[in-house]
Amino acid sequence: MSLTSGSPALEIRDAATALISGSLVAFPTETVYGLGADACNKDAVSRIYKVKGRPTNHPLIVHISSTNLLQRWAKDIPDYANKLANKFWPGPMTLILPRSDLAKDFITGGQNNVGIRIPSHNIALSLLEEFESLGGLGVAAPSANRFGKVSPTNILDVKIELGEYLGRADQILDGGSCEIGIESTIIDCTQPNPVILRPGFISIEMIEDILSTNLQIHNSTQIPVNAPGLLAFHYSPNGQVVPNANAKPGDGFVALAHIPTPPGAIRLASPKDYNEYAYLLYRSLRLADNKKLTKIHVVPVEDVGLGKAINNRIIKASGGITE
Ligand code: TXA
Ligand code: MG
Repeated sequence: MSLTSGSPALEIRDAATALISGSLVAFPTETVYGLGADACNKDAVSRIYKVKGRPTNHPLIVHISSTNLLQRWAKDIPDYANKLANKFWPGPMTLILPRSDLAKDFITGGQNNVGIRIPSHNIALSLLEEFESLGGLGVAAPSANRFGKVSPTNILDVKIELGEYLGRADQILDGGSCEIGIESTIIDCTQPNPVILRPGFISIEMIEDILSTNLQIHNSTQIPVNAPGLLAFHYSPNGQVVPNANAKPGDGFVALAHIPTPPGAIRLASPKDYNEYAYLLYRSLRLADNKKLTKIHVVPVEDVGLGKAINNRIIKASGGITE
């Protein structure tokens, strides 16, 4: 594995060449770091699953640099999906669309739809543009963590998660800390009306505003979708996350700044608003692991806007445990 450190343009060209030749490249996005492979190369994509330790029937998001490539991967794109794409791409949103022949079973986990995202991070976009200029059509990239673990938001976390599993020709591009800190909003666009599968920075309110409709949010008993981000236990640190403020002495504690630390608890983050909460959430869970804390109380916020995504990740990290 090589950690890039030369001139940015050369690094990106090297990384794009590595992708074209079938290697893996971990790269920053505005949400979290992704572990990329050429989405048309079955062997390269199968290495993503090995490196992550992820079951192979779980689909991957294909990243492209512009909507020019959208029709290559997807078909029968509904009007509302085009509206969302025009408004929120490049950005922290993934659309699930009916797949074209290019989206093989090894990308979609055998489903008839494909997840597509155009990220807004400069390095991610430059990498995708360079990769496409070399003939590539899309980069499959899940979050760059081991299966079920917390998504990495900086290069050190990527190295800790995956360093020992990457090969010599694989690369990690350094883009500092991810601005948003939690994964993209996923919207199922395969039905007459959109359904939110995973809340994110692009909030339900923002989407409703653009589409002038009321949205459905996925409830796991309604729609049979194959998405590990939808499993009950996901994004978890080693310690047990508890989604309330009843921390005992020695427990970790994460809450908005105005909430006082219970006596003896170890404050891991005091975000001043929801943006900062999303930014600090995974970082504070990793800090808890570094401190070998066995319990981390993470206090949910009001369930509006970005708050829905923050609460979703807190509940997922807790595995549904409430005490
Ligand atoms: O912000 C993000 O979305 C990051 C960055 C790297 O782009 N990527 C990411 O990928 O979070 P991943 O694989 O860790 O999570 C994507 C989720 C998974 O739960 C996956 O199963 C689901 O999206 N997904 C992908 N394609 C899908 C599809 N065709 N249908 C339903 N769910 C899909
Ligand atoms: Mg993930």
